[in-house]
Amino acid sequence: MRIVNGVILFLTLGSLAISCDSKPAPTGADAPQPLTEAEAAYFQEQGQRLAQTAFEVLSSRLQAAMAQDGPAGAIAYCQVVANPLLDSLAQARQATIRRTSLKIRNPLDAPDSLEQQALQQYADRVDRQEALAPEVKLVDGQTVAYYAPIKVQPQCLACHGESGKTLNPVAENALRSAYPEDQALGYRDGDWRGLWSIRFIRDPKQFVQ
Ligand code: HEC
Repeated sequence: MRIVNGVILFLTLGSLAISCDSKPAPTGADAPQPLTEAEAAYFQEQGQRLAQTAFEVLSSRLQAAMAQDGPAGAIAYCQVVANPLLDSLAQARQATIRRTSLKIRNPLDAPDSLEQQALQQYADRVDRQEALAPEVKLVDGQTVAYYAPIKVQPQCLACHGESGKTLNPVAENALRSAYPEDQALGYRDGDWRGLWSIRFIRDPKQFVQ
């Protein structure tokens, strides 16, 4: 078997959670082939890398904007930059990447129906106090989804924390005017915030034995 770049790296990371059961499987000749183990491991690794890079780029820019312009300036910056920045990172890998949540701030981040399903599954795990791990799922014959949980960290609370406690008052004002429908408030350190949602093109020829 041809060893795909990165598979070995991934296998050392452990906690492989793969499921291909997001939709009832179509039957007959149209049914897509389930992901092979090599494909699943490959997309798990690619997804992890892309989500990690996106997180690092986004949070370092956010911190720089916070330091330079304070929370209100950083919010304005986020509003303009977050989604286009993610798009440009993903384009290089012919993928799409976005963040989504059951409690959204920007209406553009609202989940599609598959993301909604995935979010609900993660929410159920949170309720059962289970550990959250990334997942690879087949969307259809040509598309693979990668989801990774996003957790709230102390540096997020200035803009996603509890009013009168951890939420920064200047940020709170700026958020109220920029996002009148904001649901992404009231979080505590360690809370589950949402998902990285990445879609890759599936090319089974890449994995010919
Ligand atoms: C300076 C304020 C600020 C900080 C700090 C901040 N965020 Fe946000 N966050 C925002 C804004 C503003 C948006 C909406 C961005 C947009 O309009 O695209 C947002 C959107 C998001 C989204 C996208 C989903 C949605 O609700 O629209 C996620 C997920 C998210 N933040 C998680 C985090 C996490 C995790 C941290 C800490 C690592 C964090 N944020 C820190 C201001 C902040």
